[in-house]
Amino acid sequence: MNTSNTNSIEATAFAAGPARDSRFDVKERWSECLNLPDTHPDRDLEFFHRQMNEEINGMENAARNLADFPDAEWSVRMSIARQTADEARHVLMFRRILERRGGWLGRYAVLNFQYRIITKIDNLVGRLAVQNRAFEAEGVDAVEPAIQKARDAGDSELADLFEAQLADEIGHVRFANEYIAQATKSNPMNVMRVGRALNQASEAFLSVMGQEAIDSVKYTTNEQGRLEAGFSPEEVRFAAADRNARKKHAGT
Ligand SMILES: [Fe+2]
Ligand SMILES: [Fe+2]
Repeated sequence: MNTSNTNSIEATAFAAGPARDSRFDVKERWSECLNLPDTHPDRDLEFFHRQMNEEINGMENAARNLADFPDAEWSVRMSIARQTADEARHVLMFRRILERRGGWLGRYAVLNFQYRIITKIDNLVGRLAVQNRAFEAEGVDAVEPAIQKARDAGDSELADLFEAQLADEIGHVRFANEYIAQATKSNPMNVMRVGRALNQASEAFLSVMGQEAIDSVKYTTNEQGRLEAGFSPEEVRFAAADRNARKKHAGT
């Protein structure tokens, strides 16, 4: 991606970052992070630290949705409030396991692209389409194999943590799917808002991660989890086909 393109994406698709105290080393690009290989002994610690900060982003985004859209329907505000509490619990779960296993806050660099991308979107339906229906649905895909891997390794503490997280994330994707379906049906402008938010977010995400990191994703689509999260069978089939095409393209 050339420099002028990167600058224009920075202006159009990213808001300012969230506050972090001096313990945190905040980076803007995936390539600036440590990204330990799977075989490295500290790889899990790095993952816990990264995930903890992503959960902080999730909590901050949900809280901002409550603060920025006070006139949204009561039912969706209740769901977002519950999500905020869930994400706060996830932050603590990952902090606890990080510290119990020898890590500490600030041990690794963090990225706050989720907050910066989401809070740049000026409407609730677009934010929920990107945060819950895209980012968190990817989480639903990623967590499922991690549960099995932890169980196979005899790590029941970690497997239980992932199971609790997965149940909550499915709920977050589901309420967003329900809200988006109802909002787009009642006002066709919302279809445009969702499309625009998804386009803006995918360009921004690409500029943070780089194509190589996106292509190196190893998990597959959690079809059952996505159905439970309110995606239609067609949408699940499409997500699986898209993931397979990306893997073929990447040769993985
Ligand atoms: Fe979470
Ligand atoms: Fe979530």
